[in-house]
Amino acid sequence: MKSIEQMSEEIRSLGPWHHDIPLTEQFSTGKAFAASGTLERDANHNVSLLALADSFRSIVDTIYDDGLKGKRFLDCACNAGVYCFTAREMEADFSFGFDARDHWINQANWVKSHRTVSPTDRIQFSVCDLYDLDKRNLPLFDVTMFKGIFYHLPDPVAGLKKAADLTREVLIFNSQTSWGDPDGYLLPGLENVTSRMSGVYGLNWRPTGPKVMTPILKYLGFCEAKLQTFRQNPRNPELGRMELYATKVPGLLDKFSVPKLF
Ligand SMILES: C[S@@+](CC[C@H](N)C(=O)[O-])C[C@H]1O[C@@H](n2cnc3c(N)ncnc32)[C@H](O)[C@@H]1O
Repeated sequence: MKSIEQMSEEIRSLGPWHHDIPLTEQFSTGKAFAASGTLERDANHNVSLLALADSFRSIVDTIYDDGLKGKRFLDCACNAGVYCFTAREMEADFSFGFDARDHWINQANWVKSHRTVSPTDRIQFSVCDLYDLDKRNLPLFDVTMFKGIFYHLPDPVAGLKKAADLTREVLIFNSQTSWGDPDGYLLPGLENVTSRMSGVYGLNWRPTGPKVMTPILKYLGFCEAKLQTFRQNPRNPELGRMELYATKVPGLLDKFSVPKLF
């Protein structure tokens, strides 16, 4: 069993980290940097270090009465894997996370072998490009996370289709958007592929808001969607953030008291 000092040293050597993931009741990947678990972006290669497990739990608890018991969970562009670990903690039968960068999958696998606060069996991580996901011949998943990836793709509809085709019940979708443009479009841009948090192709498209997602999600086979968030980025007034939930099972989103998209 490694000491906290040893683990902290290993965590720091694998940085920068985006996910603050609990390892024991008292210690987390973020606490390797500061007792509070918080770290300014400037001190973290311009990457935000975030504790994301609780917000995910609250989404799942609104959809299902008994957590993810018996469900298969897919996380696209999983980074260090916080959602796969939390899904397993919520009794998912299997969690699969993939990311195009080995930097993040190395972190996810390190956490898998050091996290003792909940079981880490039945979790698998892989270095994989979203556009190659269908080559893996994976069985279907019940719940899919598609967060922070749509706006990093040269063909976002084709990318989202790879995930949607593997999804049986619910898609949790979160994307950066443009802000202030009329909604109903995808706006092209060029991004720096050397940033570990960005895409790997250079061309990217930002949705202008939730409206443009309706035909895309219907085309991909979803029958209902609800909009959780659409707000301006306080750090950059030209950008926004949107979170929505889409389902292929009528009524599965009924407990969300947020506006229906369709
Ligand atoms: C903004 S981060 C979001 C990470 C994570 N989904 C989250 O919400 O915390 C974008 C992630 O997408 C990954 N990524 C970018 N392009 C990808 C692609 N084509 N296939 C798979 N992962 C990709 C990056 O390596 C990075 O981990």
